[in-house]
Amino acid sequence: MKTYQIASIPGDGIGPEVIREGIKVLDAIAAVDGSFRFNWTEFPWGCEYYLQHGKMMEEDGIDRLRSFDAIYLGAVGAPGVPDHVSLWGLLLAIRKSFDQYINLRPVKLLHGAPCPLKNVTPDDIHMTFIRENSEGEYAGSGAWLYKDQPNEVVIQNGVFSRHGCERVIRYAYDLARKDKKTLTSISKGNALNYSMVFWDQIFAEVGKEYPDVETSSLLVDAASMFMVRKPQRFEIVVTSNLFGDILTDLGAAISGGLGLAAGANLNPERKYPSMFEPIHGSAPRMAGKGIANPMAAIWSAAQMLEFFGYKEWSEKIVNAIETLLVQGAVLTPDVGGNASTSDVGDAIVSLLTL
Ligand code: NAD
Ligand code: IPM
Ligand code: MN
Repeated sequence: MKTYQIASIPGDGIGPEVIREGIKVLDAIAAVDGSFRFNWTEFPWGCEYYLQHGKMMEEDGIDRLRSFDAIYLGAVGAPGVPDHVSLWGLLLAIRKSFDQYINLRPVKLLHGAPCPLKNVTPDDIHMTFIRENSEGEYAGSGAWLYKDQPNEVVIQNGVFSRHGCERVIRYAYDLARKDKKTLTSISKGNALNYSMVFWDQIFAEVGKEYPDVETSSLLVDAASMFMVRKPQRFEIVVTSNLFGDILTDLGAAISGGLGLAAGANLNPERKYPSMFEPIHGSAPRMAGKGIANPMAAIWSAAQMLEFFGYKEWSEKIVNAIETLLVQGAVLTPDVGGNASTSDVGDAIVSLLTL
């Protein structure tokens, strides 16, 4: 029997509440399948840990994670710790150290999920966002000069390397080719006259190797308008780190909300562990009430199964989420119900183990 070693980092706020349900679902699937199992190792890192130890994870935290098959993360961030400290100390440190340069985020409207758009059905929202996840606006390059003086200056550099752009764009073309889908690149070359002109150039260059893939390029402002007005036009989408961050929250808003938005941080070469996490944050005001929607975390667990090669199980999980949404009986408040986080986890387990 294959055993997967998974590091779980429940983190802060609602993180632990939703991760518990994802683990419940994965363990239940492993029990039914019988050919694999999960060995979970939990790391208590996050903002509480920071307040006790002055750091977000142990000194050798990255080394300790290195040998795992995957990382399953809840959320990071709490009111008592500055966000840039908590996120750079844990989440972003993991994404960067393990070269998880693909952030794969499905934006799919399931049947039964609430959608604020008029005359839009699940057939209309079927996007897969490929967000660059290692550099760009998140490179962490810059300076803070003359701090607290009248001539104070801050510089935040966008770093776009040929290597970094090519690999994420190539990944997106490969996926579009494999799935026979259209590919849209989203950038902003009219204003960002270095980084985004370069991005567009590389998108066109790499595209020469994929004459079979139908492409389009959009400016990010127009793209956000089209996501609301004409979501049908998007299939596979590739974009930079910051644009991808913003557009996938918009994507969440049109496809059921943050409680349903899943994400995978992939190192496609599998040199390092990949990390699976809902795209929402720690929602501190919702924490401790047992009302957070675990579907995003559970969907991310489905992405983990797909990454391990269990596509059927992955699809079954998403189908179970959809069934629950359609039935409407066991849902958290964000999607119109009054069930608890663990009720939803239990109901998904029942559907999968029938
Ligand atoms: P957030 O995603 O935590 O919450 C925004 C709102 O979305 C919440 O108020 C809530 O109404 C809703 N929501 C989010 N997840 C939900 C769920 N599972 N079920 C139901 N409703 C849900 O974003 P924020 O308030 O901007 O950030 C809170 C903290 O989380 C900050 O510290 C931020 O830096 C951090 N954050 C962390 C991650 C991460 O760890 N991946 C992602 C985003 C934000
Ligand atoms: C996300 C989050 C993170 C990001 C933050 C918390 C650093 O918003 O995963 O979408 O911007 O990547
Ligand atoms: Mn985000």
